[in-house]
Amino acid sequence: MLEMVGGSFQPLLGFTLLLLCVKPGLGSSIGEGDAEVGCIGRERQALLKFKQGIVDDFGILSSWGNEEDKTDCCRWEGVQCSNLTGHVVMLDLGAYGYNESRYLRGKISHSLLGLQHLRHLDLSGNNFEGESMPEFIGSFTKMRYLNLSSTHFFGTLPCQLGNLSNLNSLDLSGNSHMSSENLDWLSHLSSLTHLNLNGANLSKVIQWPEAITKLPSLIELHLKSCDLPSLATPSLSLVNSSASLVLLDLSFNQLHTASIYPWLFNFSNSLVHLDLSYNLLRGSLLGAFGNMVSLAYLDLSKNRLGGRIPTHFSGSLVHLELSNNFIRGSIPGTFGNMTSLASLGLSRNRLKGKIPKSLSSSLVYLDLSGNQIQGSIPDTFGNMTSLRTLCLCSNQLEGEIPKSFNNLCKLQTLELCRNNLDGVLAKNLLPCANDTLEILDLSRNRFIGSFPDFIGFSSLTRLELGYNQLNGNLPESIAQLSQLQVLNMPWNSLQGTVSEAHLFNLSKLQHFDLAFNSLLTLNFSSDWVPQFQLTEILLASCKLGPRFPGWLRSQKGVGWLDISGSGISDVIPNWFWNFSSHLYRLNISNNEITGIVPNLSLRFAHFAQMDLSSNRFEGSIPLFLFRAGWLDLSKTCFQGQFLYCVQLVVELWPISTSQITYCQESYPTVGHDGKE
Ligand SMILES: *[C@@H]1O[C@H](CO)[C@@H](O)[C@H](O)[C@H]1NC(C)=O
Ligand SMILES: *[C@@H]1O[C@H](CO)[C@@H](O)[C@H](O)[C@H]1NC(C)=O
Ligand SMILES: *[C@@H]1O[C@H](CO)[C@@H](O)[C@H](O)[C@H]1NC(C)=O
Ligand SMILES: *[C@@H]1O[C@H](CO)[C@@H](O)[C@H](O)[C@H]1NC(C)=O
Ligand SMILES: *[C@@H]1O[C@H](CO)[C@@H](O)[C@H](O)[C@H]1NC(C)=O
Ligand SMILES: *[C@@H]1O[C@H](CO)[C@@H](O)[C@H](O)[C@H]1NC(C)=O
Ligand SMILES: *[C@@H]1O[C@H](CO)[C@@H](O)[C@H](O)[C@H]1NC(C)=O
Ligand SMILES: *[C@@H]1O[C@H](CO)[C@@H](O)[C@H](O)[C@H]1NC(C)=O
Ligand SMILES: *[C@@H]1O[C@H](CO)[C@@H](O)[C@H](O)[C@H]1NC(C)=O
Ligand SMILES: *[C@@H]1O[C@H](CO)[C@@H](O)[C@H](O)[C@H]1NC(C)=O
Ligand SMILES: *[C@@H]1O[C@H](CO)[C@@H](O)[C@H](O)[C@H]1NC(C)=O
Ligand SMILES: *[C@@H]1O[C@H](CO)[C@@H](O)[C@H](O)[C@H]1NC(C)=O
Repeated sequence: MLEMVGGSFQPLLGFTLLLLCVKPGLGSSIGEGDAEVGCIGRERQALLKFKQGIVDDFGILSSWGNEEDKTDCCRWEGVQCSNLTGHVVMLDLGAYGYNESRYLRGKISHSLLGLQHLRHLDLSGNNFEGESMPEFIGSFTKMRYLNLSSTHFFGTLPCQLGNLSNLNSLDLSGNSHMSSENLDWLSHLSSLTHLNLNGANLSKVIQWPEAITKLPSLIELHLKSCDLPSLATPSLSLVNSSASLVLLDLSFNQLHTASIYPWLFNFSNSLVHLDLSYNLLRGSLLGAFGNMVSLAYLDLSKNRLGGRIPTHFSGSLVHLELSNNFIRGSIPGTFGNMTSLASLGLSRNRLKGKIPKSLSSSLVYLDLSGNQIQGSIPDTFGNMTSLRTLCLCSNQLEGEIPKSFNNLCKLQTLELCRNNLDGVLAKNLLPCANDTLEILDLSRNRFIGSFPDFIGFSSLTRLELGYNQLNGNLPESIAQLSQLQVLNMPWNSLQGTVSEAHLFNLSKLQHFDLAFNSLLTLNFSSDWVPQFQLTEILLASCKLGPRFPGWLRSQKGVGWLDISGSGISDVIPNWFWNFSSHLYRLNISNNEITGIVPNLSLRFAHFAQMDLSSNRFEGSIPLFLFRAGWLDLSKTCFQGQFLYCVQLVVELWPISTSQITYCQESYPTVGHDGKE
């Protein structure tokens, strides 16, 4: 059979072969009607041999077989034949086509070469771990579509791929164990419109732009995370290069400005989608991107770009992401005229000035956090009724939350933290977002008034109102926020009592911070077993005492516990030293806690910080405490030890307490140093 490899067959030859193969007694269905073209025996055998090389844990190929009722291979799972010639033209066995958790394993047999009329081969998502990509794949001269993405191959990209001269679409992405030193073979693929090599290691391919330039039909090019080398002096002539290129993704490489700009702007008229995020682009050439007239999607985030935001962008821009650069100046008012703009990310730059009155009313996502923007939040924001995410944290904004925010009915995330905003928080804040709001962070401003009612905010997962001047009681209605994971409102002037009635239904709560509301009393019955398992309990300076809070015993996963200065004058219970093995930060200082600390074989998390100072412990200092990274026993009178009412602070590791939250990031674990 293998003598046919590499040759191209005329239909006539194919037909005679068909007859030859049918005679030796391969089921009746095929030969019967002349008009009915079924499966060709030779190709059937090739497929069965391919199946032999495959480990099929999930029975994906169960329709493939020798049995009487399975003779027509054109009806097998993933197989398609030409209804004119009967040849197998498509093998569509991409794992994701079925079910993400079903895939094939094993080896790709040479027998596949029997399918010389194959035009479409998709084996994506299957697991050929440890195998190299077969070189014979270059012999399918009729191949138009080849998808071997995420197949776990390793080794080099075979240059034989360059023989697939009819190929339109080549997807080898997601094979991070594959590399190439040379992409010269690409230049033979003159029909190629889609190329995806995301994740392949191309760090040695100095000539990668040249290789791409030789693809006159290219529409989509994905070279994300390819470790592409930067070219110091581009000597490119890309005159012929794809005026057709529509999508270019070069993100997550280490490209410098000089190696990319000179040829990039030759695609100016065609590019619709351009992603250069996570590179090393410098300079103030942003204006050149403004001249790309067809752009709908532009991501330049996480580079080192300076300069100002251009006043003109393509009118069809939908997505603009410039965050994490060194961009200066103010936000141009022209965004108000960009009626298609849905997503605008300018966070973590050096922007100054005021927010323009007019920003595109079609915005769904707006992130201006981490700049030096001043002035107030414009009333006109209430006109952006499509807004789902609004992040303005870490600026110098003043004034009140505009009343017009009452019109925002789709808001999911509102983060205004770390500004100088003030005014009375409305009792019914954001009434129209009651069904949608998930994250509300107004912390570190100057808001006054009583705690808002969040009745009906059934989706709220994170509520941060800390470091303001809110007073009054915590309403019992917070018990209805059954999705709440984070409830942080330290450093306010809250009063009254927090009881089980507030918290009984918050089964998902993890972070609970009411610290430094010194008028606030927490009164839970000592045998209360809450529904939640907290990881952070910060109640410093609240009134917890005089009894030691018994409900803490149920919290087995606590990492950070601060009940300092909370009026506890009680014997420390024995269970306390064993209640959580995750503890990395403990502060029970400034109470009147008495009792003996037993010498336990307790293990702390790395670099744990322990503050037991200003209490009235008795007995000797237990040695296990010295396993902490930072220990404060000052002003506490352990006895019977040579250290006797002596200040003792052992510092083995400095712990950073800086906490900066930004919109794009998930909720950070505070204070726990990442150095473990
Ligand atoms: C082959 O069959 C398909 C579907 O049965 C049909 O859409 C297509 O037109 C047929 N092609 C030819 C060339 O007959
Ligand atoms: C290749 O297959 C993957 C997984 O099924 C899919 O996501 C991707 O879009 C395919 N590539 C092309 C070019 O069709
Ligand atoms: C996917 O496959 C797994 C395992 O065979 C099965 O449990 C699951 O129900 C399947 N899911 C779908 C959507 O078919
Ligand atoms: C396929 O490509 C390889 C390497 O590029 C080449 O040596 C070989 O001759 C080609 N085979 C055919 C059948 O074109
Ligand atoms: C790519 O391969 C080179 C060696 O050829 C290696 O030094 C480099 O770390 C690899 N890059 C990645 C991202 O794995
Ligand atoms: C860009 O195109 C112009 C003509 O359109 C050509 O003169 C120039 O050399 C090209 N630049 C590069 C780097 O290819
Ligand atoms: C550009 O195209 C012309 C004609 O199509 C060809 O002669 C020339 O060699 C090509 N230049 C490059 C750099 O590929
Ligand atoms: C918006 O467009 C209108 C009409 O095209 C123009 O008059 C106005 O100056 C533009 N506004 C800005 C801020 O560019
Ligand atoms: C925007 O809102 C303001 C007040 O909130 C209103 O006066 C103005 O007409 C609105 N503009 C548009 C375009 O809807
Ligand atoms: C949200 O508020 C609207 C009116 O303000 C009300 O009709 C709706 O019932 C509320 N939704 C919930 C879940 O409370
Ligand atoms: C408690 O939470 C559940 C959902 O987790 C909700 O259905 C129920 O109404 C809540 N009960 C009260 C009293 O809020
Ligand atoms: C704590 O709650 C109990 C009832 O559960 C009550 O008798 C007691 O007075 C409360 N203490 C304070 C300080 O509110």
